[in-house]
Amino acid sequence: MSLYIQKVQEITNQFYAENGRLPSAFIQTFGCQMNDRESEKFSGILAAMGYSEGYSEEEADLVLYNTCCVRKSAEDKIYGRLGALKSQKAKQPGKVLILCGCMPQRKEVMDNLNKHHRHIDIIFGTFNKHHLPKLLHENLTANKRVIEILEAFSPDSPDAFEGQTSRFLSHKAGVTIIHGCNNFCAYCIVPYVRGRENSRDHKLILSEIKSLAADGVKEVMLLGQNVNSYSHSDIKFADLISLTEEIAGIERIRFMTSHPKDLSDDLIRVMAASQKVCKHIHLPMQSGSTAVLEKMNRGYTKEGYINLISKIYEAMPDIAITTDIIVGFPGESEADFSDTLDVAKQAKFAGAFTFMYSPREGTPAFNFKQEYPKEVIKERFDRLVAQVNHMQAAFNKRYENQSLSVMSDGISGKGGRYTGRTDSNVLVHFDADASVLNGDILNVHIDECRTFYLKGRIVI
Ligand code: 5AD
Ligand code: SF4
Repeated sequence: MSLYIQKVQEITNQFYAENGRLPSAFIQTFGCQMNDRESEKFSGILAAMGYSEGYSEEEADLVLYNTCCVRKSAEDKIYGRLGALKSQKAKQPGKVLILCGCMPQRKEVMDNLNKHHRHIDIIFGTFNKHHLPKLLHENLTANKRVIEILEAFSPDSPDAFEGQTSRFLSHKAGVTIIHGCNNFCAYCIVPYVRGRENSRDHKLILSEIKSLAADGVKEVMLLGQNVNSYSHSDIKFADLISLTEEIAGIERIRFMTSHPKDLSDDLIRVMAASQKVCKHIHLPMQSGSTAVLEKMNRGYTKEGYINLISKIYEAMPDIAITTDIIVGFPGESEADFSDTLDVAKQAKFAGAFTFMYSPREGTPAFNFKQEYPKEVIKERFDRLVAQVNHMQAAFNKRYENQSLSVMSDGISGKGGRYTGRTDSNVLVHFDADASVLNGDILNVHIDECRTFYLKGRIVI
C-alpha cells in the first residue's frame, strides 16, 4: 500500500506547488471507541500522503466520515450531514468526500447512497480500511466515484492497517485487540458489518503498547466488542492484561467492552490484584428480564448477571460498574421492564447508557413483533433514565471530601477548566495552572459531587 501513499504524495506536492499550501483533510467520527481508534489511523495515513489537518467540513479539501449504524438515529444524523455536504461540494467541485466504516456495509444504505447521495466520491466499508490510499489515488487520477465494499477481511488485513497512525491524545490511546463479533445478539447489526471475531496476535498488541509507552502514553484502553473472549495461541484476556501490566510507563489499563457471559474469574482475580488496571468495568446488561435476555440471545439470566456483579463487588468493593440498557425490545412487558429496574437497583451502577430499541434490518429481531406502542416505551425509558441518574448521583456522592487520584486530560473545550478521570472513570473538574500536563496523575480533593461530574482542587 505504500506505493499508493507515494503516488498520492506526488499529487499533494503538485497541489502545494500550485496553491502554496497543502490540501487539508477533516475527519468526523461517529460511534464507538473502535471507530475513534480507526480514525486516528486514517488521520495518520492522510498525513503521510501530504494532507494537513482540516478544521471544518466547509473549509477542508477532503472530508471523511467514519460512520456508525448501530441505531437508526446514528444513521439519520449522518444522512442529515450528507445533505449539507452536497451544497458545499457544489461550491467547491474539487472537494473530495469520503464515507466509510459500518454504514456502507449495509445493503440498504448502499442502495440509498447510490440513489440519493452520488456526490460522495469514495465509499468503503470496515474490511478494507487500509485501502484508503489506493481508493483515493483512483478517485484523484480517474476523477470518478470509487466504491469498494468487501464481505470479509482481505488476506492482507486487518493488521496491514497498523502502519501509519496519528494519535488524537498524547497521554492515552486505544489499542484494538479483537476485530468483529461472534455473539449475534438478536438486535445487533455489528456482527454483520464488522464480521467474525478475530483476536489480534498478542505479540503485535504488546509491541504496539510498548511503542505507545515509549512515546509518552500513560493509559491504554484495550478495545473489542467482547474483550473477554480474547484468545490467541494460549493467551487469554486475563493473561493479556497481566502482560500489559509489565510494560514500563503504562500507569493505567482500561478495557471495553465486557460481555457478562465471558467475564472470567481469572480476570476478576487479575484486576483485583493489579495496581494498574482501573477499577471500572463496563458490563452491558441490556435487560434485567431472563425472558427478554433469552430472546436477545445474550447467554445469561437475570440471576446470572446479579451473581456476576456480586462476585465482582466481593473482590473489589470500590469498583465502578457501568452498563448499557435497551428499553422496548420486541415483546418486553411491564413485568420484564420491572426486572430491568430491579437489577439496575441491585447492581448500584456508577452510570448507564440507555437506548430505545431500534430495529435494524438484517438482524433476527427485525422480524420480531413489537406489541407495545412508542408512547409506552418512551414512558418506560424516561423512568429508567430517572432511576439511572439517581444511581449515578448516589455513586458519585461517595467521593465527597475524599482525595482521589485523577489523571489530567487538560483544559476542556467549553468551560475552560481542567478535567480528568478518576481510576473509576468519573469525570472531575479541577482548578490548576499550566504546570499541569496531560497525563499527570494528581491528588484532587473533591468538594462537590454532581450527577455527571465531581469538582475539586489539587492537594499535595
Ligand atoms: N437498538 C438499540 N440499542 C442497540 N444497541 C446495539 N444495537 C441496538 C439496537 N438495535 C446498544 C447496546 C449495545 C450498545 C453499544 O448499543 O446496548 O451494548
Ligand atoms: Fe452487538 Fe452483542 Fe456483539 Fe455487542 S456482543 S457487538 S451487542 S452482537
